Amino acid sequence: AYRADDDYDYLFKVVLIGDSGVGKSNLLSRFTRNEFSLESKSTIGVEFATRSIHVDDKVVKAQIWDTAGQERYRAITSAYYREMAKGAQDHTDANIVIMLVGNKADLRHLRAVAADDAKGFAERENTFFMETSALESLNVENAFTEVLTQIY
Ligand code: GTP
Ligand code: MG
Repeated sequence: AYRADDDYDYLFKVVLIGDSGVGKSNLLSRFTRNEFSLESKSTIGVEFATRSIHVDDKVVKAQIWDTAGQERYRAITSAYYREMAKGAQDHTDANIVIMLVGNKADLRHLRAVAADDAKGFAERENTFFMETSALESLNVENAFTEVLTQIY
């Protein structure tokens, strides 16, 4: 059957939060445009991009918000996710899914957190957990798809 390009069954919002430099913007560009930049600029405020995926026979459109990790933008970014959480609560059937992402898995010799520690933390906090590499395209697709599928 014919579907318009921007036709979708569900619109889900995803927000990326975390310290400056961990790779949020590159995770977003890898997932939405299959692009990676070694010299990406630090995000100012908030940016967003979209991508639609199929889950079962439905089209799920992800609207992904990429926030600035730098402390000086904290007031702006926290306002965004407060708004978003409120938006979710307005819909009684809305779910919030949280995934802890350990990016830069390609830098094996510089590992900062043992995989078991991260896994244990995620279990205690009741979040999903995945290690990714935006550079190597490792698990980026999986991480976003898992979140979107869980919301769905
Ligand atoms: P802010 O916008 O300041 O919050 O930072 P950010 O979390 O968006 O980080 P960004 O995506 O800009 O990446 C910071 C640096 O890390 C850049 O030089 C990227 O090229 C690099 N980088 C991002 N992801 C990876 C990765 O998976 N592996 C490696 N080796 N480098 C990465
Ligand atoms: Mg950024």
